[in-house]
Amino acid sequence: MIDLLIVHASPVITFAAKSAALTGSDLNTPELIVDGAIAIQDEKIIDIGKSDILQKKYQQVKKTINANHQLVIPGFVDCHTHLVYAGSREHEMMQRLQGATYLEILKSGGGIHSTVKAVRNANEQELLELALPRIQQIIQHGTTTVEIKTGYALDIKNEIKMLKVIDQLKSFVDVDIVPTYLGAHTIPKDIPREKYIDMMIREGLPEAKNYCDYCDIFCEDGAYTLSETEKILKAALALGFKLKIHAGQFNDLKAAGLAAELGAISADHLENVSIEQLKQMKKSQTACVLMPGVPFFLLSEQYPDARRMIEQSNIIALATDFNPGSCPTFSMQMIIALACFKMQLTAREALSAATINSAFALELSDKIGSLEIGKQGDIIILAVDNPEKIPYYFGTNLVKQVIKKGKIVY
Ligand code: NIG
Ligand code: FE
Repeated sequence: MIDLLIVHASPVITFAAKSAALTGSDLNTPELIVDGAIAIQDEKIIDIGKSDILQKKYQQVKKTINANHQLVIPGFVDCHTHLVYAGSREHEMMQRLQGATYLEILKSGGGIHSTVKAVRNANEQELLELALPRIQQIIQHGTTTVEIKTGYALDIKNEIKMLKVIDQLKSFVDVDIVPTYLGAHTIPKDIPREKYIDMMIREGLPEAKNYCDYCDIFCEDGAYTLSETEKILKAALALGFKLKIHAGQFNDLKAAGLAAELGAISADHLENVSIEQLKQMKKSQTACVLMPGVPFFLLSEQYPDARRMIEQSNIIALATDFNPGSCPTFSMQMIIALACFKMQLTAREALSAATINSAFALELSDKIGSLEIGKQGDIIILAVDNPEKIPYYFGTNLVKQVIKKGKIVY
């Protein structure tokens, strides 16, 4: 007797990779099974193949789902979000529509600073209640694993409060959550920058290590310089953190090269990055996390050069960057559409980047991100019959069913 059998998926795309991620031309040729089936037992995939064969093999089944000739793929992995926050910033969107830029708004004390004020004023319960419906939304849009960063407190106590909230969220929702400490999101307004950096290194990082394994930083004009970034990340490394960097979003401060030198797991954004740094990232196997929803929402035409990255066999992953300032979308499907329209990815390349490669960017591609025997039963059914129809019907939620660890959660 097995727990779940999904049949008549047409097609199943497995995104099985020979190594930990898909690169180069392999991104565009994920394995596809016509009239496919998946068998799940104890939260994991135990078999995958043709429907007629699996139906004969597994006759004792607790639950069967007929996918009715719709597309079946792994749940999306959203490897970069800032989903815990209070307040809202649609007024800044209106300012940008009048010509203000993201960095101007940040430097004039708005942007991240406005969210910081709201987060410092909210207690844990309030932050939790604000985050829960957002997680429900991302599940409904097909995301089954999500990374969540701190970074909206910019003082030690409240950054830890954010980590506690992220930790509590885990027990309320049907997604896997990966927490990241982003104490260095921008420079706080109420204390000298050297003092805050010192406090992060002495207190923030050691305390944060009790809650998470990843440390991130925003290296940018208006946030942290390259040498500050290096200092903070080296302190994080010494404490056993693994690294992520917001790199090259508006200006190339060479943070992607630093990410490679320090063996970071990913460098994220990369709208502005040199070929040399991409080569370094290829060598260090640092994932390029691309978030085309950000330039789209910030009214910029500067997108990462994803085609160049694919040509160079960089590992590219996609994420929403869900946050109140630069990309408030829940939808990885929308990100896939933007990756196609604005970065010239094929639908299959974009899907590879949103599943197995996004799992790689969280060091989870041995457990999730593809449909293979032994991996977690994280699966979505979409109301289309080929992958190209995901960007084609852009702006539409095509998710019919979400299965997390073999259990239907939507
Ligand atoms: O990834 N760039 C810095 N951090 C976020 C935006 C955060 C915010 O504006 O609230 C990002 O785009
Ligand atoms: Fe971000």
